[in-house]
Amino acid sequence: MISDVLQKARDFETQYGPHIPDTERPAFHATPTIGWMNDPNGFSFYQGECHLFYQYHPYSIEWGPMHWGHLKTKDFLRWKRLPVALAPDEEYDASGCFSGGAMELPDGRQLLMYTGVQRHHDAEGFIQDVQTQCIAIGDGVGYEKYSLNPVLSKKDLPKGGSAIDFRDPKVWQGSDGTYYAVIGNRTEDDSGAILLYQSHDCLEWEFVRTLDRCHNQYGRMWECPDFFELDGKQIILTSPQDMNPIGLEFHAGNCTLCLMGSFDPEKGFTRERVQAIDYGLDFYAPQTLLAPDGRRIMIAWMQNWDTVGSKPSHCRWFGQMTLPRELSIENGRLYQRPVRELETYRRNPVIHHHILVSGETNLPGVQGRVLDMTVTVKPMGPNSYRWFRLHVAKDGQHDTIIRYKPDESTLKIDRCRSGLPRDIVHTRSFLVQPQDGEIKLRVVLDRFSVEVFVNDGEAVASAVIYTRQEAEAITFEADGQVLIDVEKYHLVFDRED
Ligand code: FRU
Repeated sequence: MISDVLQKARDFETQYGPHIPDTERPAFHATPTIGWMNDPNGFSFYQGECHLFYQYHPYSIEWGPMHWGHLKTKDFLRWKRLPVALAPDEEYDASGCFSGGAMELPDGRQLLMYTGVQRHHDAEGFIQDVQTQCIAIGDGVGYEKYSLNPVLSKKDLPKGGSAIDFRDPKVWQGSDGTYYAVIGNRTEDDSGAILLYQSHDCLEWEFVRTLDRCHNQYGRMWECPDFFELDGKQIILTSPQDMNPIGLEFHAGNCTLCLMGSFDPEKGFTRERVQAIDYGLDFYAPQTLLAPDGRRIMIAWMQNWDTVGSKPSHCRWFGQMTLPRELSIENGRLYQRPVRELETYRRNPVIHHHILVSGETNLPGVQGRVLDMTVTVKPMGPNSYRWFRLHVAKDGQHDTIIRYKPDESTLKIDRCRSGLPRDIVHTRSFLVQPQDGEIKLRVVLDRFSVEVFVNDGEAVASAVIYTRQEAEAITFEADGQVLIDVEKYHLVFDRED
């Protein structure tokens, strides 16, 4: 039985979604069918295909009562649209079906675990959203909410845990057959914690332990946790609200953290290192999956709560996901590389070796807005240049600049002139590690975004841009003298059969 609320959302997207021309969307980044998108949800494999759900408000380009939109893909790049999966149609989720995870059950059904939000009034009459964890089970298209929802509520919290900030379950099955979920929570000191729960059947859950706590060191509430093993390390990803900057590593507002450490079932998680996940302007709420071939792949909302006020006025969709990225741990850091499937869509190679750049120049065949380009910047000797700038999405009025300063080892992304209509944060700088004085920048452009992968994934910076598509010049500029190698491909996505 489909509820009226769900049917209405499905009818709305079927009627109005197809009006948005493909050319007004990114070529290969996931976008909502229509309206608003935020966090990736339920990023997982089901019956051999990758499913991606997302926080969705189809009726406007603003956040509203959350539904779960639904996409699937065979290659992480070409997305097939499926009908809205969840709508806020029960008492326990009437104010929204918030973020969560998904997995395939042993009997072949697909399980969704999400946060149900229900509005209450506190003693002073103020509105409070109470959050519980809920289950829906389906066949990859249609889902039925569990009759005994919610499966986790206030009574299942550890002492001091907040029932108002208790959300975003990420669910998986351990090698011992037990089901686990990590859930974000706020503790009595008003800062974030990540709680671990377990279940023998995915329906009855019990609290195991607090995996890690913020103690007001890294922001306040920790949203959207993930927890997995990667290259011998145990990793927690989380998205803190209200961060303070720490040097060039973390920025104010909504930030993202990778906590690296070890896990022992008796002692729990021991944190060893903390780093930012993405150093650009638009990146939040990442979620990972384990692909059947063993790759740990991450996708995130390529947006940030602090930047959502800047929208092109005419758009009928808002919010997009990052390029899915393969994760690894190298030299004690989280490395991210575009999924290797991207390389199968490379066309028209343009290769230039050993080009001297002094002042500003362009190169034959190097332009475009949907492309994959690697630029290696090499000094001509000690202090041969003060800075190098790569300009993309450029015309007389616009450009997006990636600037490297060798004396500081900093990279800066600057989208002040990239068509965003509001005065929000447009620049960010971060530290990089040149190798033998060289720096390698892999830049992936897709109509409305730029993602820069530094030194084979040691650091990544993502940003949304709205520069008109005709602005497709690319130039290289140096204050001083550098040598560059450039390898550039157009990305061409044929229609899926
Ligand atoms: C993160 C978040 C989640 C929540 C969802 C609501 O961006 O705030 O914590 O579940 O968005 O849309």
